[in-house]
Amino acid sequence: MSTTTTTKMSPRTQSRAALPPSNHKPAPYSGPTRDEIMAVRKEYLNPGIFAFYKDPVCIVEGHMQYLWDETGRQYLDAFAGIVTVSVGHCHPKITQRIQEQAAKLVHTTTIYLHPTIGQFAKAVADHMPKGSNLKVSYFTNAGSEANELATMMARMHTGRGEMLSLRNAYHGGSQSTIGLTAVGTWKFPLPVVNNVKHVAPGYCYRCPFGLTYPSCDVKCARSAEDTIKYETSGEIACFIGEPIQGVGGVVTPPPEYFKIVYDIVRKYGGLCIADEVQTGWGRTGEHFWGFQNWGVTPDLVTMAKGIGNGAPLGACTTRPEIAQTMTRKIHFNTFGGNPVSMAQGLATLEIIDEEKIQQRAKEVGGYLKNKLLELQQKHSLIGEVRGLGLMLGVELVKDRQTKEPASTECAEVFEQAKNRSLLLGKGGLFGNVLRIKPPMCITKADVDFMVDCIDECIDVAAPGK
Ligand SMILES: Cc1ncc(COP(=O)(O)O)c(C=O)c1O
Repeated sequence: MSTTTTTKMSPRTQSRAALPPSNHKPAPYSGPTRDEIMAVRKEYLNPGIFAFYKDPVCIVEGHMQYLWDETGRQYLDAFAGIVTVSVGHCHPKITQRIQEQAAKLVHTTTIYLHPTIGQFAKAVADHMPKGSNLKVSYFTNAGSEANELATMMARMHTGRGEMLSLRNAYHGGSQSTIGLTAVGTWKFPLPVVNNVKHVAPGYCYRCPFGLTYPSCDVKCARSAEDTIKYETSGEIACFIGEPIQGVGGVVTPPPEYFKIVYDIVRKYGGLCIADEVQTGWGRTGEHFWGFQNWGVTPDLVTMAKGIGNGAPLGACTTRPEIAQTMTRKIHFNTFGGNPVSMAQGLATLEIIDEEKIQQRAKEVGGYLKNKLLELQQKHSLIGEVRGLGLMLGVELVKDRQTKEPASTECAEVFEQAKNRSLLLGKGGLFGNVLRIKPPMCITKADVDFMVDCIDECIDVAAPGK
């Protein structure tokens, strides 16, 4: 394998949208070529690992909201490595803290005492709503593990097995979290490993009952009771839901949705789990946790992605009496709570507070949402703009009356944006929702570029729409 770059500069499509320059100068790249990287990946990695774009992008450096490929070309990251980089790529303070920790101690496991795990757990508890007693954390390496643990605790605590999740949900790719997930594209045809029933989501744009809010009386939420009565024994262990569905296409429920569902679940003796893997850490702007937007307090909260700004880190936080169930057997996670991830998580949380990241998500997210709503006036392709803070979605439709999903057009906008140095996300069952969830350090100048770029890409992908 050569050590010099031979790949040609990937051309940036001429665009009227101007990418704000970064004062960060990426180091000259001297690793294997892009073609070599592709060849090795093809030969030695499981083919189930997929890459975005017809011509995948090779990223070799990141700084705050920007990324650079092997040719030195700069991109605006509007997807944050799938909603994971919360405060910026290689944020200098986090890099310093990782380096300091890695030079001292990389691994111990929780069988020995170490200061940072407790400090981080306390910091997480301090960010929970006052009076909630959501205090005790178990650290994992990912969101799927955190959801496995939360549902296991809920089942152990209630002594029941049946669970509810939402249709259009994504809760992970492990065997049991695939059971909680309810977007067909992400479900492998496995024998059932979990006893899960799915409740209608609060997806007003595509109402599962064909009704209109608010005259619908939020039937989607109320239907949870029918699901319990008809499809379970009536003795449910728990309900798990994302406050805003991420993978499902930034589906944002009506404000009273979760309150109605939580009340029903509790009436039947179940515990409520909020999957904050995407919505946590201030991303929704107004509140630190997504569930706070809906005026509910869960019994267990799961988190990952943005909590570590890129570290393999997840957690489940709950009340002490629920956490107590974990003492009934021995449970162990080799890397959960390791010193490096803990240092990274703690530093991330400190930066969120110091740099007022949540406030920024609110302000810049509000500015972005308004601009996207303006764009909706111009392009009939945009069926709906939704979401909160810096967790936004743009659902594309071929026809506003029929709402036929514009999946091909969405894929084309996505490609065209990459060619103009904008990396977006994409989701929804039909792959017709642009997902915009950038590192929360993004500026209004970045937003101006992003919206100009999407405008231009729609003109190319769906002329006249
Ligand atoms: C809401 C939600 N929960 C859980 C997960 C699973 O997290 P991980 O991929 O870290 O296992 C994801 C991942 O996308 C997610 O979006």
